[in-house]
Amino acid sequence: MPVKQAVHFLRTARSIRYYKQELVPRETLAQLLNIGRYPQTGENAQGISYLVVNGREKLHEINELYCRIAQDLPESFPGYKEVKHTVWLQQHYGYDALFYDCSQLILAISDKDLRSWQKNAYFSLTFIALLAPSMGLGTCWLGLLEFLACHPDYMELFAQLVDLPKGKRICGCMLVGYPAVHFRRLVERNPLEIEWR
Ligand SMILES: Cc1cc2nc3c(=O)[nH]c(=O)nc-3n(C[C@H](O)[C@H](O)[C@H](O)COP(=O)(O)O)c2cc1C
Repeated sequence: MPVKQAVHFLRTARSIRYYKQELVPRETLAQLLNIGRYPQTGENAQGISYLVVNGREKLHEINELYCRIAQDLPESFPGYKEVKHTVWLQQHYGYDALFYDCSQLILAISDKDLRSWQKNAYFSLTFIALLAPSMGLGTCWLGLLEFLACHPDYMELFAQLVDLPKGKRICGCMLVGYPAVHFRRLVERNPLEIEWR
């Protein structure tokens, strides 16, 4: 692929926060998730699989657990302000600032003893997010949910709720669905900074 085309492709990657109601069929999701097998991983350990949560009702239950935990979250918790803010937006404006009314959630999962669980999951989810637009799909990273669902104090509560297979842990969370928005322009980011020695 010519460099210009490759750069343009990579620059079109965006978060989708508006979704159509229609569910993405299993076969399409399986095709999308399959690309997650191909990134480089530490020691070529790979080890990432997926649990897909389908439907608004199930996502609502996860959201309820998230809000319940947030109530008693200690102020020292990493992401405290951001987690509290999403709950506040939901309570005061009825705005679903966690799931954006999306109906499908990808949980990247691994064996509990996988050493590079988070890095491997992030590379897999990045490949998935990059492929999604070519399949007419949109994604959004859910670091907010990860704050709680991947944290040792709360991970078992989420594991139970989604009936996670025994011995597995949640390593990464990403929404997926048919986008209800289309971006015409590329976004700018901070300027490149390099130090040369
Ligand atoms: C690790 C990670 C976690 C993120 N968590 C969230 C999140 O919880 N909710 C959300 O709406 N966006 C989340 N994002 C998306 C970023 O907010 C987004 O990429 C950034 O604001 C740039 O916006 P754009 O993707 O629309 O260009 C996350 C992105 C990354 C890489």
